[in-house]
Amino acid sequence: MCGIVGAVAERNVVEILLEGLQRLEYRGYDSAGVALLTRDGELTRMRRTGKVKELADAISTEEALGSTGIAHTRWATHGGVTEANAHPHFSSDRIAVVHNGIIENYETLRADLTEKGYTFTSDTDTETIAHTINEAMKTTDSLLTAVQESVKTFHGAYGTVIMDKADPSRVVVARSGSPLVIGLGLGENFIASDQLALLPVTRRFIFLEEGDVAEITRRKVSIFDKDGNAVTREIIESNVEHDAGDKGGYRHYMLKEIHEQPVVVRNALQHRLTDTGLAADVFGKGADAIFENVKHVQIVACGTSYHAGMTARYWLEQYANVSCNVEIASEFRYRKSVVYPNSLLITISQSGETADTLAALRLAKELGYMASLTICNVPGSSLVRESDLAYMTRAGAEIGVASTKAFTTQLTAFLMLTLALGKQNGMSDEDASSIVSALHSLPAKLEETLAITQGIEDLAEEFADKNHSLFLGRGDQYPIAMEGALKLKEISYIHAEAYASGELKHGPLALIDDEMPVIVVAPNNELLEKLKSNVEEVRARGGIMYVFADKKAPFSGDSTMRVISVPTCEAPIAPIVYTIPLQLLSYYVALIKGTDVDQPRNLAKSVTVE
Ligand code: G6P
Repeated sequence: MCGIVGAVAERNVVEILLEGLQRLEYRGYDSAGVALLTRDGELTRMRRTGKVKELADAISTEEALGSTGIAHTRWATHGGVTEANAHPHFSSDRIAVVHNGIIENYETLRADLTEKGYTFTSDTDTETIAHTINEAMKTTDSLLTAVQESVKTFHGAYGTVIMDKADPSRVVVARSGSPLVIGLGLGENFIASDQLALLPVTRRFIFLEEGDVAEITRRKVSIFDKDGNAVTREIIESNVEHDAGDKGGYRHYMLKEIHEQPVVVRNALQHRLTDTGLAADVFGKGADAIFENVKHVQIVACGTSYHAGMTARYWLEQYANVSCNVEIASEFRYRKSVVYPNSLLITISQSGETADTLAALRLAKELGYMASLTICNVPGSSLVRESDLAYMTRAGAEIGVASTKAFTTQLTAFLMLTLALGKQNGMSDEDASSIVSALHSLPAKLEETLAITQGIEDLAEEFADKNHSLFLGRGDQYPIAMEGALKLKEISYIHAEAYASGELKHGPLALIDDEMPVIVVAPNNELLEKLKSNVEEVRARGGIMYVFADKKAPFSGDSTMRVISVPTCEAPIAPIVYTIPLQLLSYYVALIKGTDVDQPRNLAKSVTVE
């Protein structure tokens, strides 16, 4: 959601903080701020609404000095987008705080603190953290103790970093519900909400666990668990690419990430898919033994990841004979649900930090699922650490807010999971070998599909002045239509709805006219004839259609129907292949409309609050 960076060093840390913020900007980007503390205890702050660049432009790196500092890029939750609401927040010009998450009891805290004489200068929940800690400092000289005492009064989620003007040698950090990672340097140490922010300065990281509070000085990191016991956490050497934050010559991260899909899918299959099936325990140590008893799968996720789950349901039931339910995490976590015997709970998440998905996993543990598996893109993330089994999608850092390569690698994972569970549940040899062979052909097929860009650019021209659109698909392409509609909404702000095409006559047909383009996803499968009837229904009502169809499918275009040929592919991978043109379509429409493709308005990459 928001991004945090902090540093305790000998040198001036302002550039490290600004570079870190820039690398985290994709997480939240409506305002940014930095607070710096010199060795002599001089505290300064600079905040700006808008992008990190506004802040960087406003700061003269020669004049801004501080060997200890904290910085933040904000995605507003409590309080509008104003400079006063931007972090860091101060208390008595002494305590400085940056915070990700939501302090749910902030109203009560605010009333108490106001009564005690504190004046609030923002509408944020975060300011209550600063004043609470300031108040606690009245009974202790130790910032660490003050933070440990204060967090006991906070309800909700926080990843927070605190500085005290009276002691420039340290920052204290606390994590509950919002991730924090400590970066270890030589004679200097760092803190961030995501390792990506710190890759220019270190590759050695400690991921804090739930409830941890840590004190960071230049030479020492002391970590305490939620009960206050000193603990040692593992140091992890990161192998995330340093330049993962670069656009690599592409105009936008999203386009770069779309074009990376053949490579990352190939990586995802490497050493997992063999000539005849799967390597052992692809889904984590002990997974194959657990899978022997799985009779039902419950998938929980949000956003694009939810669409991957929706697609997986078609595969798991069709090929693996395993019953499957899929639910949006924010619904699952707040309703009473029934757990089937021998049920495996699967969470899917690019970030591994989505608050609702994490809460669903924690709830599932109480409900009695036989085991939990997460399909995730970020090693060391909360979902990975808290699940029994973890499968890493290996998509590499995804910076564009609209998810692309994370989605196709999630689908790749699910096809392998279909093989793994199918093996235990009577999958036919024919189905197994068709999935294996389709998966082997997938990277090349994605490359071939990316080559149809030109046709899609032309289509986007026709599309860009429309306000509404309808996406249709059937079977395992229905969730792909949903994902296509989501992409278009997210980055071009065109209203897009997806329907299973059999539902057309139950309502959406009433909307059809020449101002409402209809996108049809039409691979050459057993539902093609049915789909063609749906196409005729639209044509008869004067609708304008754009049909993404298999090269060999018998569609011929005319003035009301433009056909875009997609390379022929094997049936199991068709949902992955047809995702590509829909991603490209939204990208080029957004480009023509001139929207902020990588950081669309009002959205955030990682939603770590409810
Ligand atoms: C946000 C992002 C989406 C993403 C969703 C779920 O809404 O903007 O792109 O699909 O969160 O995120 P996750 O990290 O759990 O996959």
